[in-house]
Amino acid sequence: MLTNFDLEKMVDTTDEWIVTRSGIRERRIAAPEDATSDLVLPAAQAALQSAGLAPEDLDGIIVGTVMGDMVFPATACLVQDRLGAGKAAAFDVNAACCGFIYAVNIAHALISSGQMDRVLVVGVEVLSKITDWSDRATCVLFGDGAGAAVLERAEPGEGVLGTYIRTDGSLAELLYLPAGGTRYPTTHESIDRRDHFIKMKGDGVFKYAVRAMEDAARHVLGEAGLALEDVDILIPHQANIRIIDAVQERLGVAAEKVIVNLDRYGNTSSASIPMALDEAARNGKIKKGNLVLLVAFGGGLTWGAVLFRYI
Ligand code: ACO
Repeated sequence: MLTNFDLEKMVDTTDEWIVTRSGIRERRIAAPEDATSDLVLPAAQAALQSAGLAPEDLDGIIVGTVMGDMVFPATACLVQDRLGAGKAAAFDVNAACCGFIYAVNIAHALISSGQMDRVLVVGVEVLSKITDWSDRATCVLFGDGAGAAVLERAEPGEGVLGTYIRTDGSLAELLYLPAGGTRYPTTHESIDRRDHFIKMKGDGVFKYAVRAMEDAARHVLGEAGLALEDVDILIPHQANIRIIDAVQERLGVAAEKVIVNLDRYGNTSSASIPMALDEAARNGKIKKGNLVLLVAFGGGLTWGAVLFRYI
């Protein structure tokens, strides 16, 4: 665990600045030897256990992440092997903080089209390894984590009721990691420039985030023929408490319906929603029959929502 007080010793910041600007108090950091798939494994096993399924039951594994164990193969392939999910097709989705939302969207489409029956969807990030720990504007915000769920075919009116995903690539440079790809391959110079770390224009992201999450929430509900008053639980991407509060206010959703855990985990990108979902399900905040709305935004820029009836 890394607290704001620990960060005070690393960069020119204060607990007070971080709490008032972001709502974050502490975050979890993976061990130096842990890679992305190491975080996925226990989350995937817990999801399978709570679904009462074995790895061999899976037809697909979709991992939402911005940085896998390696550039390739996909981390989902490594997870497939380590889980022993012999018949599952496995691939990654890179939609930054929307990784889990995009993964659920694809899994839902694969199940609805009859191609698959059971798909493991994962959101995971080890952002600590791509964070510039000398950049106080970003290093105070992020944390590591993983969350997973299993999607199966459901009765009409249950399970996933709607999904919505959107992208605006013209805003890519608001939040990105420049080097290490084919545009700027790794060189001594790229390392010296610290271009292998996350770069972010926080104020630009902030403005777009609120509008994007509101758009996603209204759209997915409209397409499902449901209203905001029908929503029992709202789980927004956990990036910043001020973004969450602004979205809640614009949507007019009561505060007690909104799940917030970023004070303890920071922004874990694509892991934030499945982690919050798991926590809320385990502590009884989400009850069977509840209408749950997941909304996210992220680098790309991407945004989206998933609406489901918890069963
Ligand atoms: N400690 C102390 N001061 C800081 C820190 C820090 N850690 N970081 C920045 N500051 C300073 C800045 O230098 C600036 O100083 P100046 O006025 O002298 O220039 C001042 O604080 C204000 O900075 P702002 O950027 O205006 O602060 P703001 O209120 O916008 O909050 C924040 C910054 C928290 C980054 C906010 O813009 C935000 O949350 N944006 C959205 C970011 C986000 O959600 N990113 C995740 C996207 S999801 C993903 O893909 C991982």
